Amino acid sequence: MPLIAPSMLSADFLHLEKDVDMVNRLADIFHLDIMDGVFVPNLSYGFPIVEAMARRAEKPLDVHLMIVHPERYVDRFAAVGADMISFHLNAAENPSAVLAQIRSHGVKAGLVINPDIPVESLFPYLKECDFVMLMGVYAGFGGQKYIPETTERLRILKDEIVRQGLDVKLEVDGGVTPENVAEIVGAGVDIVVAGSAVFKATDPAAVIDAMRNCI
Ligand code: DX5
Ligand code: ZN
Repeated sequence: MPLIAPSMLSADFLHLEKDVDMVNRLADIFHLDIMDGVFVPNLSYGFPIVEAMARRAEKPLDVHLMIVHPERYVDRFAAVGADMISFHLNAAENPSAVLAQIRSHGVKAGLVINPDIPVESLFPYLKECDFVMLMGVYAGFGGQKYIPETTERLRILKDEIVRQGLDVKLEVDGGVTPENVAEIVGAGVDIVVAGSAVFKATDPAAVIDAMRNCI
């Protein structure tokens, strides 16, 4: 059974407390998308919002950095309560150093890649990661359509994790819906991020339940 991580990018920011409580009650992890308008052509939210959510959250916070120079902000995200921090492989000059920096705070460290980056480029870093994440869409916006080739990429990455005998969790982010989740999770995914599928649903509880019990 995969863990379900609602992406708070699609939450109702006017009633954030209500959506945080919903995740506390029904899901497993908070997925927080941090965008800088440089690495991706969009802005999201920053420390005040993350801090506010952290105060209320009873589940781990998974911070997804879509920013250049992730090393500049890792310490602050750890300080405000991140339990997991991931950054994009091509956003860091020295990915190994950033992974070590994240782990030095006792925070789980992850690498992410967009759909156009070969999945093999993650292989040399797997030993230094607690989790790896594949984007099912191009990072930057919620509500995009899942790129079907991602499923095969997930399978290849999972096989390599197993081949290296590692306990590295596999996460998928972007475009996951109740309709495609079974196939995606079948590729060996441990953590499923879902933004619009959860928050735009009339019955988020049913969506989360269906996703968790998809296989
Ligand atoms: C996209 C973000 C995702 C996004 C997922 O850049 O990293 O986390 O919020 O949203 P959905 O599930 O709507 O694709
Ligand atoms: Zn994300």
